[in-house]
Amino acid sequence: MNEHSRKIVIVTGASSGIGQQTALAFARRGDAVVLAARRAERLETVAAGCRAAGAQTLIVPTDVAQRGQVQALADRTIEAFGRIDVLVNNAGYGMFGAAADLDEAALRRIFDVNFFGVWYGLAAVAPVMVRQGGGHIFNVSSVIGKRGTPLHGGYCATKFAVSGLTESARVELRPHRVWVTLVCPALTATAFFDADTMTGRSGRMRRHGYYRFQTPQSVAAAIVRTAGRYRPQLVLTGGGKLLALLAAIAPGLTDRMMERYRRDLVEAMGEDRTAEAGRRGPDE
Ligand SMILES: NC(=O)c1ccc[n+]([C@@H]2O[C@H](COP(=O)([O-])OP(=O)(O)OC[C@H]3O[C@@H](n4cnc5c(N)ncnc54)[C@H](OP(=O)(O)O)[C@@H]3O)[C@@H](O)[C@H]2O)c1
Repeated sequence: MNEHSRKIVIVTGASSGIGQQTALAFARRGDAVVLAARRAERLETVAAGCRAAGAQTLIVPTDVAQRGQVQALADRTIEAFGRIDVLVNNAGYGMFGAAADLDEAALRRIFDVNFFGVWYGLAAVAPVMVRQGGGHIFNVSSVIGKRGTPLHGGYCATKFAVSGLTESARVELRPHRVWVTLVCPALTATAFFDADTMTGRSGRMRRHGYYRFQTPQSVAAAIVRTAGRYRPQLVLTGGGKLLALLAAIAPGLTDRMMERYRRDLVEAMGEDRTAEAGRRGPDE
């Protein structure tokens, strides 16, 4: 790719999983990548991989829950490269527990990262892209930002919030040729399920082979393919598309399917406190 078509790409949550693979995929195309997350040492490793693919890199350690740090991420990108062509608002984490039993502080914290982190990125970068006359923002929600699932209510709420924000911004920014795409991955094999807030439970599900997981590389490939093209949303995998459709046209049927999912979760979790949460289901 020549200097003219090279894009300047910011990826948040670039230290792991979907963000890491997205940064690497842009780097392989010859784009310049700006890597943001809290763990600087992991960003160094990802940056080395991007440079090995021939890309220019910039590391900006960032906690996306801090608005000033997200603004600094945009400012440092402009200082280094003069423009921002793509922002992938990807940083986020999961939360497990029955909706009525969630810890309030933990719920506010996950909104700070999963929702406000995305909004801070949009607020910092959209004006830059409008001034430039174009750009592309990807907001990573989830298939379960389309349909709530049992024992993930807090997380789903953050992702629904991202979906709503994205749909509004998409229409507002389109006249400026700034595309805003909602990304809805299905279950993806990353460290997401090992986080303290998930304590490896769904990882156990994965080992039990209950559900099929897509690769973070496939999510990254969908984002990179779409960059620079107007596309309202990327709902990934056939199962993800089916769930979104069923949720829209048959919510009662979807509830019954979800009850099976709830039972599978409880079974996969065994003895721990999540099974405890799962036992407080609607029919018991
Ligand atoms: N895995 C799935 O099944 C799945 C499905 C649908 C949607 N998603 C979404 O995809 C996105 C990426 O998740 P993943 O699966 O790739 O998980 P992951 O491997 O755990 O990566 C999460 C990334 O988010 C970053 N992050 C977390 N909190 C942050 C904060 N406060 N500030 C900056 N960065 C932060 C982490 O970096 P640091 O810890 O270094 O800060 C890490 O790079 C998330 O938004 C997630 O909700 C995942």
